[in-house]
Amino acid sequence: MCGIIGYIGSKDVVPILVESLKKLEYRGYDSAGIAVVDENQVHLKRVKGKISDLEKSLKSSTPNGSFGVGHTRWATHGRPSEENAHPHRDCTDSLVVVHNGIIENYLSLKKKLTDEGHTFRTETDTEVIAHLVEKYFRGSLEKAVQQAIQELEGAYAIAVISLQDSGKIVAAKIGPPAVVGLGDGEYFVSSDLNPLLSYTQKIVFLEDEEIAVLDSQGVNFLNFQGKPIKKNADHITWSPLMVEKSGFKHFMLKEIFEQPQVVRDTLKGRISLDSGKVFLEEIGITPQALEKVKKVVIVACGTSYHAGLVAKYFIETLARIPVEIEFASEYRYRDFILDKNALVVVISQSGETADSLAALRAAKRQKPLSLAVCNVVKSSIARESDGVLYTHAGPEIGVAATKTFSAQMAALALLALYLAQIKGKIQEQASLPLIEDLQRIPHKMEKILNQAASIEELALEFVSFSHFLYLGRGINFPVALEGALKLKEISYIHAEGYPGGEMKHGPIALIDEKMPTMTVIPKDNVYEKMLSNISEIKSRVGYILAVAFEEDEEILERVDRVIPIPSANPLFTPFLTTLPLQLFAYYIAAKRGADVDQPRNLAKSVTVE
Ligand code: M6R
Repeated sequence: MCGIIGYIGSKDVVPILVESLKKLEYRGYDSAGIAVVDENQVHLKRVKGKISDLEKSLKSSTPNGSFGVGHTRWATHGRPSEENAHPHRDCTDSLVVVHNGIIENYLSLKKKLTDEGHTFRTETDTEVIAHLVEKYFRGSLEKAVQQAIQELEGAYAIAVISLQDSGKIVAAKIGPPAVVGLGDGEYFVSSDLNPLLSYTQKIVFLEDEEIAVLDSQGVNFLNFQGKPIKKNADHITWSPLMVEKSGFKHFMLKEIFEQPQVVRDTLKGRISLDSGKVFLEEIGITPQALEKVKKVVIVACGTSYHAGLVAKYFIETLARIPVEIEFASEYRYRDFILDKNALVVVISQSGETADSLAALRAAKRQKPLSLAVCNVVKSSIARESDGVLYTHAGPEIGVAATKTFSAQMAALALLALYLAQIKGKIQEQASLPLIEDLQRIPHKMEKILNQAASIEELALEFVSFSHFLYLGRGINFPVALEGALKLKEISYIHAEGYPGGEMKHGPIALIDEKMPTMTVIPKDNVYEKMLSNISEIKSRVGYILAVAFEEDEEILERVDRVIPIPSANPLFTPFLTTLPLQLFAYYIAAKRGADVDQPRNLAKSVTVE
């Protein structure tokens, strides 16, 4: 929730900081700032608003400097304003800090520091860090940072620079991510990989309680006790092109269109079309350990939670293991019961969501097996779980999750088949038809995307509605939830996802001509039941749209508008039914002039509670 960047090297520092912040902007976008250092001054530029506002303000006066730090903010303590924007200064204006996270004991620290004579200028928790480092500074910035952080409680990734010990950036972290980029004579620290890919693919992932000291010669790593530590760089294969819009108006639209490839990439190398075998030994949990699993507990938030709901159907149907699914934010505070025969699956695109990470940590106290399903390599949840199943979606920049949802479903379908084979519930050869069905999904997704223009035409008829109901049943109930979430988060239209059968227990009271219903109704075991729900709405003059199989003629008679999709194995229909709902939400939001990639009040990675 907030993005930090630091650069030291021979290039012009301001454009690098600004371009990097644009790639971190999805993490928060209510204010932004940079600080660069020349020989005798720290130059600060901060604005309320987005990186584009920062750029505008830099046009009138661009500071010079040889190194610097930058920040894009999602406010937690203190309203969005220029004064509360990072970087934050000490009393002398010669030391600045950027911070992602929350300092929980900032009020007591602020009081103590104020009593000691420090003057505070902002409402933020971050400012205490600047004053604490100032307090301990005796000539070495890393020593001062190391002492200051002993007093901090909470979660943080920070980068600090000082005129008094110039030519270095000191970074430290507990909780939120921080990565160090090792370029050719230039070095970076960042909240994630995206800004660094244009400069280097050599990345060091900072672990909790580690400090990085960057200067023009390289990077040294220390632990929180100040002892030097050795860290190896990883070679990252994501390319800079993956974080460009490539001609699409928005990242979200580009990412919607990437979904067939993302599903292919997530399946690739993990299934055999000859033997029907699923290969997931890479996850790092042995088949022997998985064979003992008697219960699966899935925890996740937002869209990842919806992927978990779909996975419940996959795993229970194929592997015949009971599955519980919980919101991570609820689970972490529950007095839940686990044992060593339970497998806890934490689904998180970013791998950094605070509630999901806390739920994983709480679960691990009862010693179950734990598996992360993550997109971001080496993210905290991936590192702290016993095993990790990566989705191969590439970087997702749009704040609304789209391609990572499809990639999660693909990975979870594989997991279900893998568990089924390990447990002997399905023999490898008997898995073949299912695997073939799964393999055919990306091509069918392409067919739906080819109809984007007609979905746009339809969506534009609904731009001025204020309420929507989304209904689905069975494995498509989570799709209804996801469709409603997409619409509300990017277009700000109120939308509710509901299981079709529950509608008569309350929500049906809402139905009138001003509240259209989007139904998700492929031909499956609950098709007839959904038809009944549709009739109930029709009798109350509700307007109904339906996502249905293209050869389904009956539905044409029953609803007002149909979005056709190719038919498929009912178990895998969520891959297909999701796409029209994503496009529908996207076109409505774009037409309403909403900031599709950076919806108000949201951030891509929610690293606070
Ligand atoms: O990174 P995660 O998958 O853990 O993120 C979970 C949610 O914050 C995320 O899915 C959020 O709901 C998105 N805005 C959905 O579009």
